[in-house]
Formats: sequence, structure tokens, C-alpha cells
Amino acid sequence: MTIDYAALPDDFLWGTATSAYQIEGAVAEDGRSPSIWDTFSHTPGTIAGGDHGDTACDHYHRWREDIGLMRRLGTNAYRLSVAWPRVVPGGDGPVNAKGLAFYDRLVDGLLEAGITPSVTLYHWDLPQTLQDRGGWPERDTAEHFAAYASAVAERLGDRVRHWATLNEPLCSAWIGHLEGKMAPGRTDLTAAVRASYHLLLGHGLAARALRAAAPDAQVGIVNNLSTIHAASDSPEDRAAAVRMDGHTNRWWLDPVHGRGFPEDMREVYGVALPERQGDLETIAAPLDWLGLNYYFPQVVAADPDGPAPHAAFVRRDGVPRTGMDWEIDASGIETLLLRLTDEYGARRLYVTENGSAFPDVVRPDGTVDDPERQDYLIRHLAACADAARKGAPLAGYFAWSLLDNFEWAYGYDKRFGLVHVDYATQARTIKGSGHRYADIIRGHRDRARRAA
Ligand code: IFM
Repeated sequence: MTIDYAALPDDFLWGTATSAYQIEGAVAEDGRSPSIWDTFSHTPGTIAGGDHGDTACDHYHRWREDIGLMRRLGTNAYRLSVAWPRVVPGGDGPVNAKGLAFYDRLVDGLLEAGITPSVTLYHWDLPQTLQDRGGWPERDTAEHFAAYASAVAERLGDRVRHWATLNEPLCSAWIGHLEGKMAPGRTDLTAAVRASYHLLLGHGLAARALRAAAPDAQVGIVNNLSTIHAASDSPEDRAAAVRMDGHTNRWWLDPVHGRGFPEDMREVYGVALPERQGDLETIAAPLDWLGLNYYFPQVVAADPDGPAPHAAFVRRDGVPRTGMDWEIDASGIETLLLRLTDEYGARRLYVTENGSAFPDVVRPDGTVDDPERQDYLIRHLAACADAARKGAPLAGYFAWSLLDNFEWAYGYDKRFGLVHVDYATQARTIKGSGHRYADIIRGHRDRARRAA
């Protein structure tokens, strides 16, 4: 499998990605308040093995070492998220100088290392105090989000250009409020639909606030999209696939592109949106870029008695899978990059996450070889380059993840890192996939140098 390097621009961003709650630890330090994930992960029965993010990868204290790892990989970009409860512990109101100072040091450290920071403002860690006041189903949360975004941009906006408002709002709304498998653990369709609306409103308000505080800001949103396949040719299964496409993809893409919320899905949910005049324009704030998180395709069949969108996942036999039991299909990333280009007119795209969990084995000599993760990486990168060759304006790729980390409800058992973390000692070891990524990055740079 070869990667068509020539299809990727010379200034391509080769990055890794993480998020605050999954790696930072230090949950009670320097004025940070609890987030909904602290509450959820400390609720018995929510997380495999009873794990939580109290210490995680201790990145809050080891960030210098982690920047050193990025340098060893040869990456020139890093996608991080800022923890709202560190910066505005009350959810709204006073800014915590010590919390902001952490990200200030981190950004300076990255820039000194020649690594471009890409900052996501919300990767699911809502301050618990806002949840206590209703959380995302309430409009105020969107407004508080914009105020927090403004505070972060005022402090970091002189050095950070690359901003994402939300990471995977689908997970916050559907998994957190409908399926109950993520914080805040609700199972209420009305709450979920209202949360989805206010998340997107918060995106639009934050985009405006970012640009006001940092006029050079390049603003985007990050969605986890999937290719959707009907389990059979029956009209019922094909209709289920259309609904799942609405639930997973169109509900999140259409409004930010000025198309409003998809009518068919409004009917499927049957929940009144908390609309006010002008909201749709706010939600459709101009985007400088779109982020795609891609992991797996979805196969669905009609499930009339199941919850909205009345489509059930079907497990296909004989298909390669990761340790998450997710199907492996690299063609999906190409399809989605081209869909964002052709159907939504994206002008700049980043793959903001892509990666795989497999059970890693640390050999007696301390090395970690991970041929399956390497294969996944190369196949998906090759598919990205194919999409670029066909016209997708792909400007960067961020591997999920730099480090093994807290994989939400799965705890620490599922390892996505290019770097292995021994949680007992916090020792970091670059895996075979990390070395392979470094080779790929070097290969692209060498080609660009030769072509210059
Ligand atoms: O770990 C998560 C990340 O937080 C969001 N996107 C998917 C990853 C793997 O499940």
C-alpha cells in the first residue's frame, strides 16, 4: 500500500490529537472545578473497570515530555482541547488565571518546538455547575460557551490561529442525552434534541466570539461522520439508512452550512426545536475549515420499535475489525472527504481524528509492535491522499491519538496511542505505529524538498 505523497500539499499539517479530560489528570489542581465527566466516571457502573480521569496520563505535569514525543515523531501540528472547568470553573463568571496559564505555557512550548497548536474549545467536559443548571438542553449554556471561548481567545489568540468550537457534538447530544452511555448519562429524546440545537447554537456564538477576540482566527467545527450502508436492499432498510445518515451526518452538517435542520429528521424526532429568530443565521457562521473524525462505517437495518432514528446497527461477519469491534473500511474516509467537498462545498478540510485501538503487547525488551494499527494508519492515509488527488482540499491529518488515554466508557483498556503509556509508572514508549508515522512524515517532507 503506497501513499500518494504528491497529492498532499507541501505545507500539509501532520499532527496528533488528544483531549483534556482524556490525558490531563490533575482534576482538582489550580482551581479546576468538576466537569460532567468527573461526575459520570465516578458514578458506579458507568465506566469499564471503574476507571476515571483523575490522573489519566498526568499530562498536566508531563506536557514538556509529551511535546518531546511529538518532536520525535516529527509532527508539525498538535490538536488539543481546553478544559472549560479549568478556565471558567463556575461555568460562567470569573476566569481562573491559573487554568489559562497552563494552556499559555503549553502553546508557547509547542510553538518553540515548531508545532502548530490547533485548539478545540469543547471536547465534552462541561462544568458540572452548568449541568446542575440544566446543561446543553438549556439555551444559557450556549451563551456561556461563547463567553468562555472569548476568554480563551483573548489569552491565546495572539499565538493560536487554528480553532475548533466543538468536538463531535453528536456524542454530547445523542450518546450523552439519548443513549446515556456518556456524560451526563441521560436517556431523554427531548433533552437530546434540545442539546443538539444548543450545541450548534453555541458553535455559532463561539465562532463569532472567537473572531471578535482574535481577528486572525481560522474557525472550524469537528464532526464524527460515518458512511452508512443499508443491511439489505429492502425499502425498509434503505429508508433506515437514510434516517441514520440524517442522525449521524446531515443533522450536524446541514445547519452549519445554512440549510437549516433536515426536515425529515425533525419529523423522525418529533420534538419542537427551541428556535428563536436569527438562530439559524448564527449557527451558519462562516467556516474557515471543516474537521472530519472518521473511524468506521455503519451498517443498519430498520428497527421500527427502537428509539429514534429507528435504525439498528447490524454486525457483519467476516469483516476486519479493531479492538473496539469497529469495522475497518478505509474507503469510508475517502468517501466522506469527497462528500464534504462536493455536497457541502468545503474549502479546507482536516482529518482531525482517525485511529484504532488494538490490544498492545509490551515485549520483554520494552518495545511495542502494533502491526494492525500500522496497517490501519497506512490504509487510511492512502485513502486520504486518494481523496486529495480527486479534489478534496485536505490540508492536514491528526492521528488519534498521541498517547494511550482514558477512552471514556471503555476506561483505559482500549489503547489508541501511537505512544504506549504504562499507567502505573507513566512511562511513555513510542509504538511501532509511531515510528511508522514518523517515516511517513519524513517521506512526504523529503518528496516536497526534492520537488522544490
Ligand atoms: O477517544 C475518542 C475521542 O475522544 C473522540 N473521538 C473518538 C475517539 C475514539 O473513540
